[in-house]
Amino acid sequence: MHRRDLLKSGASAAAWLALGHPPLALGGTQLTPGGTRREFSVRPAPTTVPVGTTSWPTWAYNGRVPGPEIRVMRGDRVRIVLDNALPADTTIHWHGLPVPPAMDGVPGLSQAPVPPGGRFVYEFDASVSGTFFYHSHVGLQLDRGLYGALIVEEPGENDRLHVGREYVLVLDDWLTGSPEEALPSAGGMMGGGPFYDGYLLNGTVGPTPFMVRAGERVRLRLVNAAAATVFRFGIDGHRLTVTHADGQPVESASVSTLAIGMGERYDIMVTADRPGTWPILVSAAGSVVPRMLGVLAYDGADRPASPPFVWPAALQQGPTLRYANLRPTTAAVFDFGGATTIPIILSGGLGGMFGGTAWTINGQRYPAADPFLVRDGTVVALAMTNRSMMPHPMHLHGHMGWLRVPDGWIAKDTVLVNPMESLTLAFTADNPGRWLFHCHNAYHMELGMARVIEYR
Ligand code: C2O
Ligand code: CU
Repeated sequence: MHRRDLLKSGASAAAWLALGHPPLALGGTQLTPGGTRREFSVRPAPTTVPVGTTSWPTWAYNGRVPGPEIRVMRGDRVRIVLDNALPADTTIHWHGLPVPPAMDGVPGLSQAPVPPGGRFVYEFDASVSGTFFYHSHVGLQLDRGLYGALIVEEPGENDRLHVGREYVLVLDDWLTGSPEEALPSAGGMMGGGPFYDGYLLNGTVGPTPFMVRAGERVRLRLVNAAAATVFRFGIDGHRLTVTHADGQPVESASVSTLAIGMGERYDIMVTADRPGTWPILVSAAGSVVPRMLGVLAYDGADRPASPPFVWPAALQQGPTLRYANLRPTTAAVFDFGGATTIPIILSGGLGGMFGGTAWTINGQRYPAADPFLVRDGTVVALAMTNRSMMPHPMHLHGHMGWLRVPDGWIAKDTVLVNPMESLTLAFTADNPGRWLFHCHNAYHMELGMARVIEYR
């Protein structure tokens, strides 16, 4: 079996068997029409993974980075057994998927952390379809490689969208050292995060071939699982048609490149109409130097792609995605009437009243911070202003978030607030519990940029 076959969606069970792994889905008991009970087992443990030409010690789910893809249908009942083989406490968070509070995986808030050798069973309904991911919510464990894709398929959607084939592309920034060692410097000077040793696409520096056939429409589910890197993404020779933001449908927007913050996801359609082998390019946002982590390889094309030294002119000059280009579908309705506004100032950096580096929301550094109190059934608007020189991808747990765009509201759970920018993320308080709202830069979260949203 060729590695590229492993990348095909739907090939996962066969691929796992071929690799000597058991297939991840253990059961398929029919519960209700359209609802299937699905069981997975996830075991985080220290391991070594090959990256580039060397093997590196790290922590991973089921021995690989990313962890195994969890793929279910909307309406399925999902049961995930976590067996902690790490020398540290851990939890799993289902990023973007609203689940009951006790299943959300935030240590000390929604559950007790799972100790070494411990087991915890997560169980929830996959009530919303879309591209999500799962990751550890303890400290900086995400940055070691404890993440994986979580796909909730919408029945019939790929047929409606005329999708010929589908790939999941998970991006990461790779540290060869430990994140805890990088923490002290991660807040300093530039304050973005550690100095990374490389970038990964589906766990490799590639270039990984993604096979396509001329004439077909290819769906790419793009996930930024990095701890501290906003990525720019593009495919030479092709436009990207964005159809979903954070897993939820938007009116199609056609762009040459897009920026994707940590924790964000985009579903992209690419029309395969230029046979050849084309670089799939990724850089840190703002960098002119891309890495060719993958190639879009048409069947039968044999000329290899060579990595460009700078972003190709067509991608550099073409349109890049802005939130203002995202337009709501007619099906997406969010009633903003009567909202309670919570003003939010994102700031921090080196020095200031906290001594050392701190990242704050309204001047408070989590966990020494007051909760935001909300009332069940009301609409709440988080009116965010970034008063720092770093971008902050702000993530809301437990609810469907709605981002204000010029044409209305689009469903989004993670919103990249650029330096000095103001954005409003609203939600209906319909899932009583205690929920985290935080920056998805793992280092910023660790240094205080988080708050609890609590129902009165
Ligand atoms: Cu993806 Cu609170 O996290
Ligand atoms: Cu931040």
